[in-house]
Amino acid sequence: MLIDKTPFRTIWVEPNGRFGSVKVIDQTVLPHRFVVKTLATAEEAATAIRDMTVRGAPLIGATGAYGLALAMVEEPTSSNLEAAFDLLIATRPTAVNLRWGLERMRRRLAALPEADRAAAAFAEAAAIADEDVAVCSALGQHGADLIRDQWERAGRSRTINILTHCNAGWLATVDWGTALAPIYKAHRAGLPVHVWVDETRPRNQGASLTAYELGQEGVPHTIVVDNVGGHLMQHGQVDLCIVGTDRTTRTGDVCNKIGTYLKALAAHDNGVPFYVALPASTIDWRMSDGRAEIPIEERSPLEVTHMSGVTASGAIETVRITPEGSPALNYAFDVTPARLVTGLITEAGVCAASEEGLLSLFPLRDAA
Ligand code: MRU
Repeated sequence: MLIDKTPFRTIWVEPNGRFGSVKVIDQTVLPHRFVVKTLATAEEAATAIRDMTVRGAPLIGATGAYGLALAMVEEPTSSNLEAAFDLLIATRPTAVNLRWGLERMRRRLAALPEADRAAAAFAEAAAIADEDVAVCSALGQHGADLIRDQWERAGRSRTINILTHCNAGWLATVDWGTALAPIYKAHRAGLPVHVWVDETRPRNQGASLTAYELGQEGVPHTIVVDNVGGHLMQHGQVDLCIVGTDRTTRTGDVCNKIGTYLKALAAHDNGVPFYVALPASTIDWRMSDGRAEIPIEERSPLEVTHMSGVTASGAIETVRITPEGSPALNYAFDVTPARLVTGLITEAGVCAASEEGLLSLFPLRDAA
């Protein structure tokens, strides 16, 4: 997608030496600065995931894959493969794409002679990245068809208002995004769309990243505080919600950024369709009860007690907004049960949020 009219991916390899340099956009300083960082080692890839230089489930998976590739350049032994796997898997617990990407890389590499591993690892990581782009583009088209249906039901006469939470746009993937891909496809097809962007406290991925992306692509949008969604829905100002997911159980429960569950409840109460967009790599076929089984990341209370922004002089500064000494709790994700989800938008089509629905699209689930 575009930054200052130039197309970018969130992770790419630039020619340099035998295998090239892994580059990522530093998402901790967007939208105030555009900074590209180089990941030179598995340790640096792990740090980038942990400190959220890169974030979003599919992008974490792709970065983990490149992290293993960098480990194979450093030392292509099986013990280093296992050590790098353990280092990378421990960075963030909720998004299953990280495990998916790392396990795929390990399967590919473990059987190879050491001398072949680095080249094969870079090729496999590139395949994971390219597939993510294709998958997000495909699910975007399926989601755009839903938006077109809404527009036709509205008599083709008005703008379709879509509410989204957090950032499940191209910055959360390699390109296109999950929840925002349908919006980009619809916008490019000439459908009139407007996006309500939840700010998404505490890290404000909506206010900083989603708004930035949509602005760069010229998609009309308005940032709202997290608690406005219910009011907008009560007043007929939301036609549909589309969010992403970091882990989806085989039964269709979805785990996404904290606050998603409350939006789903409000949508349910107001008869607003609530869709979740996901690549198959986000489905955890081993889990069937999201609330009981999905590990929920708990992050530093400092993300709640402090906020960052840009000052009038252009400096990025962090300030405390709470009384000194007041404790804070920071759960990063919550689970929305399948019964509150109108449908799952995947690369293979749209299905019910249920085991039957998912198996109808992915009958060979182990290969998905
Ligand atoms: O903590 P983050 O910023 O990595 O969380 C991102 C989300 O919750 C996204 O909605 C999710 O990854 C959806 S998939 C693009």
